[in-house]
Amino acid sequence: MSNETEASGDLPPARRNFYGRIRGKTLRASQKDYLAEDLAPVTLNGVTRAENPARGLVDLEPWRQARPLWLEIGFGGGEHLVHMAARNPDVALIGAEPFVNGIAMLLGKIRTAGVSNLRIHPGDVRDLFEVLAPAALSKVFLNYPDPWPKARHHRRRVVTQEYLVPLAKIMAVGSEFRVATDIPDYVRQTLEEVPQAGFELVHQGSTPWEDWLSTRYEQKALREGRPPHYLTFRRI
Ligand SMILES: C[S@@+](CC[C@H](N)C(=O)[O-])C[C@H]1O[C@@H](n2cnc3c(N)ncnc32)[C@H](O)[C@@H]1O
Repeated sequence: MSNETEASGDLPPARRNFYGRIRGKTLRASQKDYLAEDLAPVTLNGVTRAENPARGLVDLEPWRQARPLWLEIGFGGGEHLVHMAARNPDVALIGAEPFVNGIAMLLGKIRTAGVSNLRIHPGDVRDLFEVLAPAALSKVFLNYPDPWPKARHHRRRVVTQEYLVPLAKIMAVGSEFRVATDIPDYVRQTLEEVPQAGFELVHQGSTPWEDWLSTRYEQKALREGRPPHYLTFRRI
């Protein structure tokens, strides 16, 4: 059984080439409890192939209740996602993250914050591209995506057409796509690739969004002297 299988309690998604880490340091007893007790009630039914082999659309409505839908790709420890959920109670948010330790950290933060407008996909965001309705999303966050610094690994980045084309399909016209990164070559690739997938650049710079909450990776980048870069795109 793979680590991902353990995390989702389900069959691993077929055919994904996921190169990141699924598991890190040994989980604390409290984190194991969060995964055992809290994860299932906040996952979306119908995302995995076992639940939905035909890959039909998932019915979000019982939970979503017509609220705007936002997505965070690779939420890490979940601080930004919980912050956005607490700040925007009239929005429904989904976070996708395959890293089990991050999922456990987010579950702990959900307990503390007591937010209920948040759902987790404990796996690859590409699973969602197939089961969310066209134009379902009105905002998407990509904070400090894995940099894959070697040139031969750039095609693993999220800012490639493999991710961006299906992402654009599930984003509404006029919706916002935010990217934060500390890697200059990631900025270059983002500026090249995102517009090709049907987005226009609205803003880029070194000042964060007014509702931004700095993430663990941003704090690490700042400690190590790498300045943040924030990019905002609009789906056209
Ligand atoms: C460098 S970390 C940044 C985490 C967090 N956003 C932050 O700023 O602290 C990138 C995260 O993206 C996740 N990730 C990478 N590829 C992903 C994918 N295809 N779907 C969902 N998450 C992914 C990784 O597991 C990792 O936790």
